[in-house]
Amino acid sequence: MAAHVHLLLLLIATVCEAKVPAVIVFGDSSVDAGNNNVISTVLKSNFLPYGRDFVGGRPTGRFSNGRIPPDFISEAFGLKPTVPAYLDRMYSIKDFATGVCFASAGTGYDNATATVLNVIPMWREMEYYKEYQQKLRSYLGDNKANFTLSEALYLVSLGTNDFLENYYSSLPGGRRSQFTVGQYEDFLVGLATNLITELHRLGARKVSLTGLPPMGCLPLERTTNFFGLNECVQEYNDVAVEFNGKLRKAVARMNQRLPGLRMVLSDPYELFLQIIKKPSSFGFDITQRACCSTGLYEMSYLCNQQNPFTCIDASKYVFWDSFHPTEKMNQILSEYLTRELLLPTFS
Ligand SMILES: *[C@@H]1O[C@H](CO)[C@@H](O)[C@H](O)[C@H]1NC(C)=O
Ligand SMILES: *[C@@H]1O[C@H](CO)[C@@H](O)[C@H](O)[C@H]1NC(C)=O
Repeated sequence: MAAHVHLLLLLIATVCEAKVPAVIVFGDSSVDAGNNNVISTVLKSNFLPYGRDFVGGRPTGRFSNGRIPPDFISEAFGLKPTVPAYLDRMYSIKDFATGVCFASAGTGYDNATATVLNVIPMWREMEYYKEYQQKLRSYLGDNKANFTLSEALYLVSLGTNDFLENYYSSLPGGRRSQFTVGQYEDFLVGLATNLITELHRLGARKVSLTGLPPMGCLPLERTTNFFGLNECVQEYNDVAVEFNGKLRKAVARMNQRLPGLRMVLSDPYELFLQIIKKPSSFGFDITQRACCSTGLYEMSYLCNQQNPFTCIDASKYVFWDSFHPTEKMNQILSEYLTRELLLPTFS
């Protein structure tokens, strides 16, 4: 009798612990844990006050005061509380066996987006992933590595930069001269489909594809909305909603076509917008400007220790710098998506 109860408890404990063997991350600054630290770009965050609320008060290259969504999601699945960057020399395959991040701040689905700030394009994130597969097979052996690669949770989060850094930035010869915004959305959905198809071919099965946030409400976009009295830029929010709708259809199509694929669209838009509209309901005071520096336009090197205006308590702010959420905002969004979508689907 007692032995049965014991066995049952053991079973329950095992089921609760071993949800996925690893979290594997692709995308942009929304999920970059520090890959940009070692490349030649102006888009970096491996200096204070970035990371001031991270373990040890340490800047890591995450674009926040603390942890970012993959960290919270990894922890919720019973894995480690932070997912390390693949290019960070502090870590090795031993660490990467349960979680690894290939993301690069400033990148997009479109190669042309990565070129703007000289960051890692998606095709190269995929090359790093292939190299990782080889290292994992040497480290764990073929069988175990294949199990990890097919049972891992893949987080893919990007797209904002394709619109804000590329399409709407009026670069000479930019995408705006070639596509209407609707055509560009379709072009990006095509690239997303190719990306996921390639990931699936390489062994991925459990995938979370992240939708766009209400990107017209990022402080940087509000600041430049002179004629709109610094309200959210409605056009950008409309594009985000339309793009997320197209992504949702693409996700359904891929789930039908690609054998064994179980992909979900992690769409943060509605909750994100609710928080911006009613910050006090979520424990925030300020949403229209960021904590770092004046909070109006600074990010990367402009968000630094020399600036005297940085806020004291980042947990009162939705945004940490003019383009990226605070740790607390990351936590609220991640917990919601994990509880409502990721844990029910993948555990
Ligand atoms: C992006 O660049 C890579 C490397 O040059 C190339 O293989 C790929 O076809 C390009 N993708 C698109 C959509 O242009
Ligand atoms: C592991 O996966 C690779 C690539 O799909 C395949 O070539 C290999 O045979 C697999 N090994 C085992 C032991 O299943």
